[in-house]
Amino acid sequence: MDRPASPRPLRSPGGFPVVGIIGGGQLARMCAGPAAELGLTLAVLADAHDASAAQVVRCAPVGDHTDVESVLSFAADCDVVTFDHEHVPADVLAALEAAGAILQPAPAALTYAQDKVAMRTRVGELGIPSPRWRAVTSAAQVADFGAQVGWPVIAKAPRGGYDGKGVVVARSPEDAAALLAAGPVLLEEKVVFQRELAVLLARSPSGQAAAWPVVETVQEDGICTEVIAPAPDLDPHLAALVTHAGLRIAGELGVTGVLAVELFDIDGEHFVVNELAMRPHNSGHWSMDGAVTGQFEQHLRAVLDLPLGSPRPSAPVTVMANILGGEHEEVYSAYRHVMARDPEVKVHLYGKGVRPGRKIGHVNVSGDDPVALSARARHAADFIRGVIDE
Ligand SMILES: Nc1ncnc2c1ncn2[C@@H]1O[C@H](COP(=O)(O)OP(=O)(O)OP(=O)(O)O)[C@@H](O)[C@H]1O
Ligand SMILES: [Mg+2]
Repeated sequence: MDRPASPRPLRSPGGFPVVGIIGGGQLARMCAGPAAELGLTLAVLADAHDASAAQVVRCAPVGDHTDVESVLSFAADCDVVTFDHEHVPADVLAALEAAGAILQPAPAALTYAQDKVAMRTRVGELGIPSPRWRAVTSAAQVADFGAQVGWPVIAKAPRGGYDGKGVVVARSPEDAAALLAAGPVLLEEKVVFQRELAVLLARSPSGQAAAWPVVETVQEDGICTEVIAPAPDLDPHLAALVTHAGLRIAGELGVTGVLAVELFDIDGEHFVVNELAMRPHNSGHWSMDGAVTGQFEQHLRAVLDLPLGSPRPSAPVTVMANILGGEHEEVYSAYRHVMARDPEVKVHLYGKGVRPGRKIGHVNVSGDDPVALSARARHAADFIRGVIDE
């Protein structure tokens, strides 16, 4: 059956702009609520008619983000264009710029979120601490780096990775062979850290910036499962250093919109930067329910160069737990149970089909005690996943 073409964006009366998002995943979907509340019109370029964001955004043409014609025709209806992921190729970004599209962030900044080697080089030039690293193209160079920094080393595809895909713990050069076959590889020392942190901030084209408190992120098998905001017992001096580094990266790289800086807390006093994302980020999902301004509203305000909202937390602690897909496709009955069991838990689902390990939603819960909140958030997420039944 032919589907009707997606409608053009319907602009709100009163001079309000249209924000276009390339990519129709959950990050674009979660911009829809704030956009509606702010009176803005959202359009998304989705990869399928039933993509997460396409289910809730009226103007959601289906198109390939690597295809210049599709992207140009989408952008022609938008006042500003931003991104749900970092996979739009450089030639498409260049064509958009040449056609006069307003891209936030601009390609000159976005490149540091797309290419981990470019990011390592630039962050190093700023004098901001990073793991020891090297870009290599051969097994002999892997052996050399391993001999220098000690095995195992971390090998990463410079582009295209997400949720730990494209990241390998290499105990020998052979472990990096599959990555090397695909092109140059970023090698890093395997950092010994106490915990992982992230600092999230938003920066507008005119240079206003606002940072949320530094959070702790918990990863399992390379996938973020839990975020505690703010990071418990974080030394205020380290919090200030990390926040300063984030603001400096945003300013120096010309980032607009939300910037997430993932970091490793080495010893409670020192940090190194892991990677950058220039869009709303999993480490900021807590802010939808735990801050005066959530990251999705703030991203919209930032890309439109509107005054930013306050990032102040609205509770002492908020814990977010990701809901990963389990074995059961049906989740509605579990979600009813979670709502009944703990009415303070806020459940967010993305309209995505269940596949084991796939991020299908998250929960937030706010209060005073991070340990108790973590237990409540985990329980809700695990119950919906179907790995516990009470
Ligand atoms: N140099 C390192 N030393 C130790 N652990 C590391 C290192 N680099 C990455 N890791 C671990 O692997 C995880 C995933 O790495 P990274 O964030 O670079 O990959 P990604 O797939 O791009 O991530 P994301 O899911 O954030 O998109 C990190 O969160 C961390 O737990
Ligand atoms: Mg990461």
